[in-house]
Amino acid sequence: MSAEEKLLIIDFGSQVTQLIARRLRELNVYCEIHPYQNVNSAFLREFAPKAVIFSGGPDSVVREGSPRPPSEVYELGVPILGICYGQQTMMQDLGGRVDGGKISGGGGTAEFGRAFVTPNDTLPLLDGWFEDGEEQVWMSHGDHVSHIAPGFDVFGTSPNAPFAITADTTRNFFAVQFHPEVHHTPRGAKLYENFVRLAGFTADWTMGAYREKMIAAIREQVGDKKVICALSGGVDSSVAAILIHEAIGENLTCVFVDHGLLRKDEAAEVTSMFRDNYNLKLIAADESELFLGELDGQSDPETKRKIIGKLFIDVFQKYADQVEGAEFLAQGTLYPDVIESVSFSGGPSVTIKSHHNVGGLPDKMGLKLVEPLRELFKDEVRALGRELGLPDSFIRRHPFPGPGLAIRCPGEITREKLEILREADAVYIDQIRKRGLYDEIWQAYAAILPVRTVGVMGDGRTYDYACALRAVTSVDGMTADYYPFNHEFLSETATRIINEVAGINRVTYDITSKPPGTIEWE
Ligand code: XMP
Repeated sequence: MSAEEKLLIIDFGSQVTQLIARRLRELNVYCEIHPYQNVNSAFLREFAPKAVIFSGGPDSVVREGSPRPPSEVYELGVPILGICYGQQTMMQDLGGRVDGGKISGGGGTAEFGRAFVTPNDTLPLLDGWFEDGEEQVWMSHGDHVSHIAPGFDVFGTSPNAPFAITADTTRNFFAVQFHPEVHHTPRGAKLYENFVRLAGFTADWTMGAYREKMIAAIREQVGDKKVICALSGGVDSSVAAILIHEAIGENLTCVFVDHGLLRKDEAAEVTSMFRDNYNLKLIAADESELFLGELDGQSDPETKRKIIGKLFIDVFQKYADQVEGAEFLAQGTLYPDVIESVSFSGGPSVTIKSHHNVGGLPDKMGLKLVEPLRELFKDEVRALGRELGLPDSFIRRHPFPGPGLAIRCPGEITREKLEILREADAVYIDQIRKRGLYDEIWQAYAAILPVRTVGVMGDGRTYDYACALRAVTSVDGMTADYYPFNHEFLSETATRIINEVAGINRVTYDITSKPPGTIEWE
């Protein structure tokens, strides 16, 4: 399933390990992250990496039983780059010494934040780096190396890290104390570029190559069996469906469930795009009566989410049963989800919101999974979507939650409120598009509030709903800030909504960041 030339990232639990993978993918190098516990000599033989990177990590190498790579990794004869904790374990494993800092009970100097490294000597890893005599780097370590391992020399130092950059040039082992993958090491990508060049990567891992490889892999996995796919209209499931369709054509059936909680014209737009442009077998199931019926009278956010999640599975199963002989279920699982599920540091501990997905389905239905996006990050999925001919406007669409408008209608959901909300949202998004702001904003939507307020229009009194507009900037949806619209935009949009949407007489703008708020209202 994977590229010929692979780089292995051994994860010791750093918060930023994924960024290492991002930097490498940007260089067209295929890599995989594996937690250190899963990496033993058999794994190494099978994986056959062309180079290895040790990530950082929260533990202390001076602690007994702290994480280590298998010793065989040093005998593979391939270049290794150790980062932060990765440097420390490499030094310790190969005969150097690490002293504990304050955090692990030692007296050494901890270092967190910006530092400046200056060169001691030239090194292929550093080609084109120290152009201005020094480089800003990001340090985040409690312990520090006090004696480098035999065979290593020092190539860069910072005021608090005399061994900031070390290398054994005979074996091509490199070890740095700082994090070249983070934003605050502004030119860190150069080090990764040099590392993969000296490791001999041809750097040909492109979306075109991925598409060809995946099509072959899907054909091999599925053979002449049938696949079903829940199409949500989002980018991930759409790209997965189109890719699988390219591989197996007629043997793929997609099910698009209209739960009555979609945006204005959304069901028609999504179904026609897939039927007309891709000739894809599509069951468009209008189940809005069922969903809205079950949601009637429910106002608790979690109850609403659970009802929708359960009904979705029931409904999908009903339609999937009509596809005779289906043996596979396609899912748009992405690489970050895969890493999260194998990560030894564990996922989030508290459920803030139960997310809507089809997670329980494969077991319940006895289906095998086809997950052609498992190796990709979100922006790579977008690139693949473009490669597959999906219109840019579709690829750039803001995220839309599985439970749809239900969680943008706090309190009880009624058909009347949903209609009002659809219209208000359409006007708001139209305003954003007209001003050319859509792509700058990560997500924008209108919510209808469960209060009516008094207003005056013409000479009459109104008593209508209030709506809240939300627009946020974010990188991954985990944290977010509100988008700073100017007042003119806000007042023009409010006026348009009140004039054009019957049922709303007051508009507010939500200026809460996440945390403490969440992006959706429920
Ligand atoms: P919150 O509201 O948790 O949302 O800050 C973060 C991002 O996740 C989306 N979201 C969902 N997506 N199923 C989804 O597929 C869900 O149940 C769900 N709930 C929230 C939300 O739109 C935002 O992009």
